[in-house]
Amino acid sequence: MIGRRRVHTRRVRLGENERPRTTRRHIMSTTTTTTSRARELVRRARCVMLEPSCATKAAMTADTHRWWFNRRDDDDDGGAAPPSTSGGGFAYDDPRADDVVDDPVRDDSSRVVDPSRTKRLGNGGTVQSRIAICHSLASIESWAMILAWDCIQRFGEARSMPEEFYDDFVNLAADEGRHFTLLSERLNAMGSSYGALETHDGLWRTARETAASCEARLVVEHCVHEARGLDVLPTTIDKFQRHGDEETARLLERVVYPEEITHCASGLRWFKYLYFRDGRGREEMKSEGGGGEETATSGVVTAFHDIVRTYFHGALKPPFNDDARARAGFTPAWYLPLAEKPFREETSTA
Ligand SMILES: [Fe+2]
Ligand SMILES: [Fe+2]
Repeated sequence: MIGRRRVHTRRVRLGENERPRTTRRHIMSTTTTTTSRARELVRRARCVMLEPSCATKAAMTADTHRWWFNRRDDDDDGGAAPPSTSGGGFAYDDPRADDVVDDPVRDDSSRVVDPSRTKRLGNGGTVQSRIAICHSLASIESWAMILAWDCIQRFGEARSMPEEFYDDFVNLAADEGRHFTLLSERLNAMGSSYGALETHDGLWRTARETAASCEARLVVEHCVHEARGLDVLPTTIDKFQRHGDEETARLLERVVYPEEITHCASGLRWFKYLYFRDGRGREEMKSEGGGGEETATSGVVTAFHDIVRTYFHGALKPPFNDDARARAGFTPAWYLPLAEKPFREETSTA
């Protein structure tokens, strides 16, 4: 049936992971010391990137999340670095982890193709189509996990990021790793497995283009690509629901969707932090103080638009999930000026 595609504005309950909105005053109050524990975290991030297996990457990610949040009380800046192994039994002593890892290692269990050559996923009406959708989502989650670690290992020390930055991106990596594991389990339940189908590395290709700029990485990956995920996820959830796969629909709606909102919020939070600490916002802080409503002509919003126009190829695609985007901290001023023009609703046979 040919009909209008519309964005479903599901109301989501944000759980304990919801992070509070960041104010300019809060941004300026964070500390920027690099502790021995943060340096060890960077080493672990690199070891995860160097691990070939996605499943083991996810297990190392969960292990490092536990380690990071459990050892907080033991931290002392200037003390000896914590041991390079933990209760998870993983070794984090790869000598290649002394330097920035430029490209992650991936085993060849899944055939990687050019993003433009991937097969159509279908509308979820057959088990093959539902497997294809789950496999595609699991692949995206595995790359999202790597991107979170890459942000830590590439920009954490280089940009003197504060402790809260590491907290947010360790949480983000752990969320993505868990999404990958849960979707892999759904694939197993459907008689398939992760790696059975071809994948693409489109997310990492775009990440390479922002490897020299933390601001651009935060904007393009977390505020554009992840926000696009919020726009389309309700339609994906409906595909599973409509065809009787309640379990996958529930996983996507109750676990993945609310957590993805917090990821967009983290991207926006740290973009603003850098804008007001190192960018044009420093002068604005002096002249305007700590308030002011964000409009399409605010300095921080126009800086965001400039980055999207520089690093993102093409315009943003409506329709937008305004409700989810608002929960992540985006008013339309952040994204509507970047949308395809003239604005029109898409038609679809789905
Ligand atoms: Fe995710
Ligand atoms: Fe995410």
